[in-house]
Amino acid sequence: MCGIVGCVGLEDSKNYLIGGLKVLEYRGYDSAGIAMIADDEVHVRKAVGMVAELEKMCHDFPRKGSVGIAHTRWATHGGVTQDNAHPHMDAAGNIAVVHNGIVENHNALRTLLEREGIKFKTQTDTEVIAHLVSKFYEDDLAEAVRLALREIRGTFGIAVISKKEPNVLVAARMGSPLVLGVGKDCLLLASDAAPILPYTQQAIYLNNGELLKATPQGYEFFSLDRTSITPKIEELDQQLESIELGQFPHYMLKEIYDQPTSLENTLRGRLKAEAGDVHLGGPGLSLKTIHALNRVIIVGCGTSFHAGLCAKYLFEEFLRIPCEVEYASELRYRNPIVRPKSDLAIFISQSGETADTLAALRELQRKGCRTLGIVNVVNSSIAREVDSGIYTHAGMEIGVASTKAFTAQVAALTLFALYLGRSRDFSSFVLQEMTESLAKIPTLIEDYLVDTTQIEDIAEEVRNARNLLYLGRGYQYPVALEGALKMKEISYIHAEGYPAAEMKHGPIALVDENMPVVAIATRDRTYEKVVSNMQEIKARNGKIIAVTTEGNTDIEKLAWRTIYVPHTIEPIQPLLTSIPLQLLAYYVAVKNGRNVDKPRNLAKSVTVE
Ligand code: F6R
Repeated sequence: MCGIVGCVGLEDSKNYLIGGLKVLEYRGYDSAGIAMIADDEVHVRKAVGMVAELEKMCHDFPRKGSVGIAHTRWATHGGVTQDNAHPHMDAAGNIAVVHNGIVENHNALRTLLEREGIKFKTQTDTEVIAHLVSKFYEDDLAEAVRLALREIRGTFGIAVISKKEPNVLVAARMGSPLVLGVGKDCLLLASDAAPILPYTQQAIYLNNGELLKATPQGYEFFSLDRTSITPKIEELDQQLESIELGQFPHYMLKEIYDQPTSLENTLRGRLKAEAGDVHLGGPGLSLKTIHALNRVIIVGCGTSFHAGLCAKYLFEEFLRIPCEVEYASELRYRNPIVRPKSDLAIFISQSGETADTLAALRELQRKGCRTLGIVNVVNSSIAREVDSGIYTHAGMEIGVASTKAFTAQVAALTLFALYLGRSRDFSSFVLQEMTESLAKIPTLIEDYLVDTTQIEDIAEEVRNARNLLYLGRGYQYPVALEGALKMKEISYIHAEGYPAAEMKHGPIALVDENMPVVAIATRDRTYEKVVSNMQEIKARNGKIIAVTTEGNTDIEKLAWRTIYVPHTIEPIQPLLTSIPLQLLAYYVAVKNGRNVDKPRNLAKSVTVE
């Protein structure tokens, strides 16, 4: 939700700021803006639409500024207009602010400031920050920002510049991430490390409640009560290629094709297939804790929630541990029952910044629950706040629709189940079979992705559908939910995921000759049952797209189209069945001219509740 960049000491500040916004555009893309101090002036441009629109307006914008900030927006308060785009200015036009987060008490602050004679120009919550900084400003911008932030309730990652101190960039964090890249002669601020990578591998992640003052002479960190802080410089381990499209037309397609590699990375050093064993350093659970475990609560949103559902089947069937999977947004306000001695709560998040997941984590921690994160973004808020965790190592995911992060989450959860199981009920036979099967998955996906023309053809045939139904049972039910989510979020076609048999209790009324029904019918224990459900669809003239395992040609008698995926053991088959569903959504969206990587109304990292 919103991306921020800022810089000090760059020869080509404009290039970093606009280029950085393009990299961060996945965080929000309804409007964008830039402010830079050059020749004793604050230069500001704002545009509605994507960063490219802003760039068009910046042909005559100065290349070099002493300091600069920029922002790409996902609107929360105030419509998508040029005025509401960031940066926001104080009344005199001397101070410019960009903000990611929400000022919860903005109404009260606005009233107060209006009483003092301030005339607001926008409907945003952020504008109050600019006026507050101005109100507290004497001759020290960092101090004025600090005092302003003491008045604010809510979340923020902010960057502020002022004409009166043209060499100073001030930033602060409470909830919304910020990282400072430490270059040879420059300092670079961003919402995540990606914009910084071409310039430096050295970075400092701001902690909540920290304030940064950056100048050409260096940087200083303070707490909001002005205590000086010595920050920790970290070496970024991301590679530049992870943010480059290469031969692919869209990040989503690139990330689908990344999956053999991203899954290798999730499993590397952890899965010992020859020995039928798993080593995980992250969870750090003692044998006593593992044996005392009596319930697992899995928490996430969207795709991450679906990955959690896949794990429920595995945990209950093989570990015999009751497992509840919860939407973070529901759990956080429900006063959940927690038994600290025997519960473990697992928080799944690609970004590690999802506001609801973070709040649910804090809620369960407050109740004394032990917590574990399954997170992709290293050093993100959730990764820092959980008691222990497993990084998914999927690499940077830029397409808004999650693909490789999902399969990495399912793989990490499977590793965790094996990690628990080896000290609990798993026989060596089960361990051997599961580890060997998991080890083969990256190659199976790689082989599958060699030729996807069939999926493209099916996409052509369903692209004009108004509704789609996705059905699955058992381990394939979460895959059906995930397939439907992918379809609706990037193609804007209504799609519903349903347990195959449950479909009789309502959704079957939707089925007619125009209704494509994706039925996941892999050769497993529920196969015959799913086939019966397919018969029910066919009897009502539904067009069945069957996703089945190789060799299962019988199904062609029932299906309108059949997609074959390689076969593996039932608990990890979702890692294979999810791939054609990602591709189907992708090709339908492309054929319908959608903005695949930046679908409307969405943003990659949902940092508001
Ligand atoms: C869908 C999608 C979202 C995210 C959800 C949670 O493709 O990407 O549903 O899965 O917003 O995000 P994270 O995993 O970052 O917590």
